[in-house]
Amino acid sequence: MKRRAFIAGAAAACSVPLATSAVPYIPPQPDTGGPGLDARARRSGRRFGCAIKSGQLAKDPAFTAAVLREAGTIVQEYELKRHVTQPRPGRYDFSGNDKLVDFAQKHGLAARGHTLVWYSNNPPWLAAALPGARGRARDTLLTGYIETAMRRYAGRIGEWDVVNEPVEPNQGRADGMRAQNIWGQAFGENYIDLAFHSARAADPRARLFLTDFGLEHASRRCEARRTAILKLLERALSRRVPIDALGIQGHLKPFREPFDERTFARFLDEVRGMGLGIAITEMDIADRGGPQALEPRDAQVAAVGKAFLDVALANPATSSVLTWGLSDRYSWLSTYPEYRWPDGKPSRGLPLDSDLRRKRLWASMAAAFDAAPPARKGAR
Ligand code: G3I
Repeated sequence: MKRRAFIAGAAAACSVPLATSAVPYIPPQPDTGGPGLDARARRSGRRFGCAIKSGQLAKDPAFTAAVLREAGTIVQEYELKRHVTQPRPGRYDFSGNDKLVDFAQKHGLAARGHTLVWYSNNPPWLAAALPGARGRARDTLLTGYIETAMRRYAGRIGEWDVVNEPVEPNQGRADGMRAQNIWGQAFGENYIDLAFHSARAADPRARLFLTDFGLEHASRRCEARRTAILKLLERALSRRVPIDALGIQGHLKPFREPFDERTFARFLDEVRGMGLGIAITEMDIADRGGPQALEPRDAQVAAVGKAFLDVALANPATSSVLTWGLSDRYSWLSTYPEYRWPDGKPSRGLPLDSDLRRKRLWASMAAAFDAAPPARKGAR
């Protein structure tokens, strides 16, 4: 969608004159009644879910009720990262994730595992130990953790982000792989093979994902990232690395980079053509740089959310969509210097506002799920 067409479209969506008085903004409630997003996603054989933290469940019953109303699967925003779960060698602390997985099981929700192998969020002892390790001792620093985590949750976590964010073309490697990555530095690209084979052996029933960001927009940045991830997948699949699906994080930045349906659809077709599944694993919409006024901003956010999901859900290989948080009340976008609003007001990049009300973005996601053609059956 070209930027002019996008803004014209979104402007047309603004049916209400902008609130210019000091009267607090009460967003017009689009038709936001009826079933939650997961109930709508299931109609085409898909799931909807969101990232949460165990503290939110403990202290915010209204938010918890909203999660149960909207989501059919959950993922850990933070509590299954290795610097949390293995603070010292041989010492594990899965208590945070245990609460999330127990919550999911109690309420019949599915659960994802985010994430096993990442260049970031590793405990200091690991980053110190890896460079000097050799042979089996080195391999066990990678595979031992995967086996421990996946065996603990076998049968309760159905899909895992085994390797997260392996590419970064702006770090100068010709193959676009992430150069500043303790795993690549220690093993070369073979860390990916080792991780996925170890994961497959640890829980043969789990669905194994490779995930990354910056794959969505019609920009030089995203084009370089799509090229790198496609070439990585080709190489890995030619080595028979057991990757089942690609996780496209979906952190959209429509006020910085254009979104073009054809570009994104072509990319998804290439991934599906490799025999891989697809999931949108961390969708949200950074609204900084958009209109200050909430009405046009919400309308433009909803428009790009709809355009993005229409393309993703048109591909039968897309099995699920998760947002990175459910409500603006708890969005990382509002805390991250690059995305938060200077006036300290919350970002509005998630389906529910800070008062847990369904926004235009919720309505556009619901419409996308309602109109979605069926997903491919039996995707691993
Ligand atoms: O819970 C501790 C708290 O006890 C402590 O006082 C506080 C100050 O240090 O930190 C708190 O932990 C923070 C945690 O979020 C929970 O809020 C960590 O500092 C902070 O680094 C962590 O940030 C998370 C980040 O990943 C790094 O793990 C964000 O919430 C989370 O949204 C973000 O998620 C990533 C995905 O994993 C990968 N894709 C991008 C996405 C957004 O950056």
